[in-house]
Amino acid sequence: MKLVFATHNDHKLQEVRAILGDLVDVVSLKDLQDFDEIEENGLTLEENASIKARTVFARHGLPCFADDTGLEVKALDGAPGVYSARYAGPGHDAKANMAKLLKEMEGIEDRRARFRTVVSLVIDGKEYLFDGEVAGEIMLTPAGVEGFGYDPVFRPEGCTESFAEMSAEKKNGMSHRGRAIQTLARHLSQLPRK
Ligand code: IMP
Repeated sequence: MKLVFATHNDHKLQEVRAILGDLVDVVSLKDLQDFDEIEENGLTLEENASIKARTVFARHGLPCFADDTGLEVKALDGAPGVYSARYAGPGHDAKANMAKLLKEMEGIEDRRARFRTVVSLVIDGKEYLFDGEVAGEIMLTPAGVEGFGYDPVFRPEGCTESFAEMSAEKKNGMSHRGRAIQTLARHLSQLPRK
């Protein structure tokens, strides 16, 4: 079955393909040559994931899923949360977002945080939501070059390295998106084969 992943992010696409394997044929919006903006104006991760998946389903009429992720920092009352991508401004600049986060966290001892991902799957006219999260903390300085986004400043609980210092395989095994996509995979594997 062909399943559209509503993303232009190659890192995410690789992560998701590695988890879903041969279960489905995952194609991205780039594969569909769809570069139209989708306005993510929801107030929650659930709303944004749903807006993306429903918009893509309406455009292409293919089963599809979308994800939305937020980094929730305890000492910042859950910020940047649903605004993680635009934390330092509309440019979606990962370095600027990390710099702003480290500035906001200056002098704060409680560095607990979590990544949370919500996945919306739209298939056969029905929508299903799945989520996944990983607890950890915000590091004092960035470390590592793998991954994307806030990976260099997030160290998952029980680990000595940041997400950006890990192999993709190790990150996938414990990450927010990895967990949400595993749940999606279980759901897909139970669908009747077409
Ligand atoms: P989105 O909802 O996937 O667009 O992600 C929102 C924000 O979180 C963006 O700034 C992403 O770069 C960041 N983000 C999403 N997933 C990850 C991840 O796995 N590691 C680090 N940052 C991420």
